[in-house]
Parts: sequence; structure tokens; C-alpha cells
Amino acid sequence: MSKQQVIVSTEIKQKLNEIYENHQIRKVLLVCDTAFQYLIPREEYLSIDTPYVVFNEFTSNPLYEDVVKGVKVFRENDCDAILAIGGGSAIDVAKCIKLYSKMDDNALYLEQEYKDNEVLLIAIPTTSGTGSESTRYAVIYYDNKKQSVTHESIIPAYALLDYRALFTLPEYQKKCTMVDAFCQSIESWWSVNANSESREYSRKALSMILDNMKAYLENTEEGNRNMLIAANYAGKAINITQTTAAHAMSYKLTSQYGVPHGRAAFICLPYVWKYMWEHIDMLSSELGKKLEELFQQIAQTLYCSSVSEALEYIFTLNKKLFEKDKVTMNIEDVGLLAGSVNATRLKNNPMVLSEKTLQDLYSNIVQSYN
Ligand SMILES: [Fe+2]
Repeated sequence: MSKQQVIVSTEIKQKLNEIYENHQIRKVLLVCDTAFQYLIPREEYLSIDTPYVVFNEFTSNPLYEDVVKGVKVFRENDCDAILAIGGGSAIDVAKCIKLYSKMDDNALYLEQEYKDNEVLLIAIPTTSGTGSESTRYAVIYYDNKKQSVTHESIIPAYALLDYRALFTLPEYQKKCTMVDAFCQSIESWWSVNANSESREYSRKALSMILDNMKAYLENTEEGNRNMLIAANYAGKAINITQTTAAHAMSYKLTSQYGVPHGRAAFICLPYVWKYMWEHIDMLSSELGKKLEELFQQIAQTLYCSSVSEALEYIFTLNKKLFEKDKVTMNIEDVGLLAGSVNATRLKNNPMVLSEKTLQDLYSNIVQSYN
């Protein structure tokens, strides 16, 4: 991972002024989403000494065309830095603007070779979920298709974690983003790409999510502060490992039924884990033993004495958190859902899931929600 500085602070104005001065920044492109107008520290974020221009013409599932517009604004205003303030989408748009800002605009940016450039990128996340402020990934849509843009250079040079940015986040969004971090820390833990560093991030993230869930949902300073740090750890974990089957299965629930990203992954997670737990003997005894150990470690971090108890905990938590927010899915869509799962992402999963297995899992999910 490139050298990123993560700064936990509420002294944002001072920090930004210092950063801009150190990097001799002339003009900043401020990329922010619609929630920006409600942020409590908004005025402080705007009162920096360096001139800036705002770009906010994108939606929650940002299009390639939105990014192209952002690149135009960046170039026309002769900017040399980008500050992203927002959820995962705002940060992803800012990452792509940075990456594309020095590329040839006579060809599709998506098809050109990605290279590092000198544009300074800073992120202030206003949700505690995606961890995008510390990952090399960005998701945009081109021609109705999801595009995963991945490059080391789009990891922001600075991630500023300011808990005040979370106070005005609606409760449902707080829950959905928190469970995204929850899934990311668990999926990263069992990913085939995991190493000791990523597992340490996963463990820290999951343990902080559990310990601060109540305070975070009560919107306290400490709860919000610690959940931001937890989500950042989960982001650092998936930056190394990528996500696995629960995330892979979740994307179609989002595009087909509008289920928010984190919640969609959290719906799939216990079904995927239960399947793997019940079929662990399909692996060689060595791999099975290793996976069983990882499952036990995750269960212990969830304060459960067994994997079965951990599964029960997640199923119950799902009901408890979202009992008022109904999701409707259609059993006739099971084939479509199973066929949509990205095979590359499934390869990060510690156990192979066949198309028939995916169909069975979706079938169980859809039935339990209808
Ligand atoms: Fe996610």
C-alpha cells in the first residue's frame, strides 16, 4: 500500500491548511455529495485559505460520464489537488478524477493504461462503512455495467477521520454502512488473499464494531469516532484481500431491488458462512482445519463460543437492526441472481460455490424475506 496518513481529528481546518501549504497547492477541486449541505462542520471545511471549486454533479451510483465532467472542471480551473468529502461514491468519483486528470481525453479513460500522477488526493469520509478512503478501488458505471477501477495511486494521500461528519447521517444509512464494514472485516478475514497484516486489520475492525455498535447507533461522539476508525481498518483489510462471496452475491440485490450496498452484503453473509461451515468437509483435511480455525477466531471476536452461536448472532442482529425496513425479493429471480455473480470475485472465497449452490443460497435468502 502507498504511504497514506490517516489522521483522526476535529481540527480539520488547521490540518487542511497545513497539508495544502506543505504541498504548495494552488487550487482544490472539492468533490462532495448531497449530504454535504447537512454536515455540522461544513463551514469549517469551506473556510480553508486555499481557493477551491466545488464538483457535485454525480449520483450514488456514479457514472463514467460524471467523472468525465469532473475531470473537465478540474482541468478548466487548473486545480492541483482534490478533496473528497462524502460517502463511498464521492470518494470513488474523486479517485477516478485524479486518475483520469492526466490522461488523453481523445480516448476512453477506462481503456488507457493507469499511471500515478502528482495530483494530491485527500478524503474525509462522512459514513463509517466502505473504508474507501483507504483502498485502491473505485466503482463507477459505464454503459450500464459496473466498472471496478483499481490502482495503487488512487489511495488518498491523507484520510481525515472527523466524527462530527457522522452526526447528521440518517439512522438507516448509519446501519447500512456499519454492516458493510462488518462484512468487509469478516470476508477479508477468510479471503484466500489474507495475510497476517490484513487479519490484524480485520480483527481490530470487527472488535471495534462490536464494542461501539450501541454508542454509534445512539449517535455519541465516542461511538461515531470509534466506528469511523473501525470502518477504516476494515477498508485497509480489503485493500489487501478484496471481498469474497457475500459481497459478490450482494451486488445484484442492490441493482435488482435497490437494497443499499452494506445491507445487501449483510443479508448474504450469514447464508454464505453457514453453507461453508456445514460443508467444510468438502475441503482437504488441511484446508478444512485451517478454515475451521479462522471461523473460530471470527466467532470469538464476535464474543461467541462457537461458529453456530456466531451465525445465530448475525441472523438475529440482522432482524434486530432492520426489522422496520422491509425488503421484497422475487423467487422467480433466483436464476438471474445466481447467473449475475462475478466469477473473479468468487475466487477470493475460501470455498468454491457452484452455480447450483448460489441458486440454493439465493433461494433461501429470498424465501426468508418474503
Ligand atoms: Fe462493501
